[in-house]
Amino acid sequence: MNRSQFLRLIGFGATGAFVFRPSWALGAINYDFQGTPAGLRPYLQTPRPDSIWVSWWSDADTQTHVDFGTSAGALTQSVSGTVNAMGTNYRYHSVRLTGLQPNTYYYYRARTENITSEVFRFRTPKAIGTATGKFRVLVIGDNQIIDPAQRRYERLVERAKKKVEDLYGAPIEEAIDLVLLPGDQVDVGTLDHYRHLHFKFCGWISPHVPIMTTIGNHETYSDPGLANYKAVFNYDDLSCLGVTSPDPEVYYAYQLANIAFVHASSEHTTTTQTTWVQNIVTAANAATGIDWMVSLCHRPYQAEQYIGDISSWMRNTAMPIFAQTQKHVLNIGAHHHLYARGQTRQWPVYHIISGGSAWDQYWGQSNESNYDDVQKTIANWTWQLIEFDLDAKTMDVRCFAEANVRFPTATRWSYNSRLVDQFSRKLGVTTTPQKPALTNTFGAPVTLPVQLTSSSYQTTSGEAMNSTWFQVAADAGFINLKIDQIRDVENIYGDTGFPLYEPVDTNAGVDILKFSISATGLPNGTYHARVRHRDTNTLWSQWSDAVSFTVTGSVAADPKITLQKSVYPPTENFSVAFENGPGHVRDWVGIYKKGQSPGPTAATTWFYLNNTATAPATAIRNGALNFSYDLPVGEWFAAFFTADGYTEVAPRVSFYVGNMVTLTPGEDAYDEGETARLNFSGAPAGTKDWIGVFRVGTTPAPNVAAKWSYAAQASGFRDFAGLTKGYYYAVFMVNDGYQEISTRVPFSVGSLISTVSMESTQIQQGGDFTVHFTDGPGIAKDWIGIFKEGETPGVNVLTAYLYFAGAASGSVTFHLPDLPPGNYFAAMFTNDSYTEVSNRVTFTVLGKPPLEFEQAKLEGNEIRLRWKSESGKTYKIQKSTGLNGWTDFRTVTASGSSHEELVPVDRSTQPNCFFRVTDG
Ligand SMILES: [Fe+2]
Ligand SMILES: [Fe+2]
Repeated sequence: MNRSQFLRLIGFGATGAFVFRPSWALGAINYDFQGTPAGLRPYLQTPRPDSIWVSWWSDADTQTHVDFGTSAGALTQSVSGTVNAMGTNYRYHSVRLTGLQPNTYYYYRARTENITSEVFRFRTPKAIGTATGKFRVLVIGDNQIIDPAQRRYERLVERAKKKVEDLYGAPIEEAIDLVLLPGDQVDVGTLDHYRHLHFKFCGWISPHVPIMTTIGNHETYSDPGLANYKAVFNYDDLSCLGVTSPDPEVYYAYQLANIAFVHASSEHTTTTQTTWVQNIVTAANAATGIDWMVSLCHRPYQAEQYIGDISSWMRNTAMPIFAQTQKHVLNIGAHHHLYARGQTRQWPVYHIISGGSAWDQYWGQSNESNYDDVQKTIANWTWQLIEFDLDAKTMDVRCFAEANVRFPTATRWSYNSRLVDQFSRKLGVTTTPQKPALTNTFGAPVTLPVQLTSSSYQTTSGEAMNSTWFQVAADAGFINLKIDQIRDVENIYGDTGFPLYEPVDTNAGVDILKFSISATGLPNGTYHARVRHRDTNTLWSQWSDAVSFTVTGSVAADPKITLQKSVYPPTENFSVAFENGPGHVRDWVGIYKKGQSPGPTAATTWFYLNNTATAPATAIRNGALNFSYDLPVGEWFAAFFTADGYTEVAPRVSFYVGNMVTLTPGEDAYDEGETARLNFSGAPAGTKDWIGVFRVGTTPAPNVAAKWSYAAQASGFRDFAGLTKGYYYAVFMVNDGYQEISTRVPFSVGSLISTVSMESTQIQQGGDFTVHFTDGPGIAKDWIGIFKEGETPGVNVLTAYLYFAGAASGSVTFHLPDLPPGNYFAAMFTNDSYTEVSNRVTFTVLGKPPLEFEQAKLEGNEIRLRWKSESGKTYKIQKSTGLNGWTDFRTVTASGSSHEELVPVDRSTQPNCFFRVTDG
């Protein structure tokens, strides 16, 4: 879909004139950036009703004390903690205050032998299980940029604090119970980033409200064992309902009031973590003291930019487990530096991306797709406020925008806490929208286009309509879906471009109670349609009764059969969907072993298109057949026949019955010249089963494998010598063919495998330049970075970068009109990390050469100016009488490689007169 077709502004805040500090945003709050106050600013974490951790950094102090009490003037208790000398000038002080009363304000100051903080105040959490009052959470995204010239995260924190205090008319520790961060708190897990980015920039809030973080991919960079993360955060004794983490401080959960907070790690998606999630969900679902569950997972559930760069573990494995309890209402992701919100298609669960103010991300930059489980994606820098009303059992979420990366740096922070989203969830509501009906009546076959029309939205719950879901299937069981579309009352996707970059609602003016099937939307055949409605509390109505119709006069598409998978475990049932059948009552589908000939050999199992061995009275063209037959292990195919004979009307579909083989490389990365080992187990031990090793970017086919070997055992290993430098994957295949029965497992041989190159290493300032690459690792967020010569990636702030959608080879073109003259290098980095995987190509950006004059000659009352020019380029002649100021005199466009102008001079009135020519 072309976003430029949808230049309709959404409801809030559209203005006619373009101003960077728009009038809608001028409120009582002083949005001028003040910056975190100086002095020791402690950091609170791991809040419990009876304890809290206080932490801070110093250069070289050795003492750790906190004085505290329940009034500012009586800090009657003192407690000493520990200091961890983590590096030169990196002393980490931490102390746990214990014996506290729940839901109580405490005053405290932190001190060492050299410095004492001012007195701060915080509030302990309510007692565990409390189900009265409010509980408020501040969520402030992914904020990995340390650049002290920008202080992006610090600005976002300051804005959030001001807005929250304005909303509630109270200091932040009275308004907010907890700050949640969904990962990428740092760009690299160095002490520098923990101290000077994460701790320093949240200093407005960290002494008052506890902050809890989540592992992102960037926490693992420069700190792969997470030693710094574990040393800085005191999460090791957290548990939820007695369930402890098998990998403490990597993923963790805890309960506050009657809410379970589950910080998962999208970077450690092992079955151990999956089992832990299951244990928490089982316990929380049964616990009377828990009403709510919120999960965090750095890589999100869904994303409409950089599509596919999500946590497939969260989406496919963890979310179905979380959805076992209706207490789970929200998943908070990050990783994409924008805001997004959606509802899972089938469960009453919201998911958001809280992308903070990290590396620039905007529309048009990446592969994008408009998904129906995302209601809005807004490429702003935002923060969110979650309010639980524990008595009313409601959760209200609001999202406030502060900045737009597309605005110039000087005027970027112009939104001033603009409300860009709000949504809510009410627990315990059993009233769903009323079951709708399709009002269409189809007496005779129809020709397309056809509009399906739903009855109006009806409910007694008081909730408004949020979504409709239309399905059209080729079978009455709605397995073989031809149309499957959820639409929300709004669909915020894309922006209006320069200069305002406003969000666009592509559903503005769309009646989502109607669904149009286009003139080419379905081939001839019989179909079944149904609809349901969802309310603003995420609850679906029942499906409407199905309405059947027959399409005629459309394209006569080819008959086709499809299976949902290519590998089935031996006892798993499978279904074969068929469509566009030739229309004989005795059309049928048979299952044969690979190599068998239908006719001479009987089918192992088969059905007429009514899923029985008795032909139907009238012909069926579309539908699905369910096979519950336990096929022996091996290779099989399904075939589609007509008229009780053996004439096949569609291409066969091959599949394999058996268990997947486990294939594991001995190492993820081999040195050049080393022999690569692939271990396998659970294999069928066929004499011609084989392991193929392929270069990333190639697909298994004859003569494509870099190396291969038969593997005719149940388990063992095969060694592959002589692999040249490169990124590879290995896969296990059956019987000399290309049926894959393992996942593809990646590994590499050699270091700095990828190659980057440039056609010229001399770039004129302002000119675009292209970097070519080959032998990339093939991961979605591989990137080419530009650094100044002598800089260290991951330590110095990068100058520019581009992703390239995980291509193994290709090129990227940089458009950097303001890149200053100097020496730079380009290199490839893998998977959004600072792991460098290519050579470096160094290049020089040349300053603009001075204009070269060919002539400047006085001729009477004129001066003849001639200079070397570029055809089509505009030049300005400027005039000065004293070299202390220049005024524009004439603007000309050159038409050749030399340009000449005659300029009048008045020598009687202006004895001194200077001219110059510029191309700026
Ligand atoms: Fe990330
Ligand atoms: Fe990030």
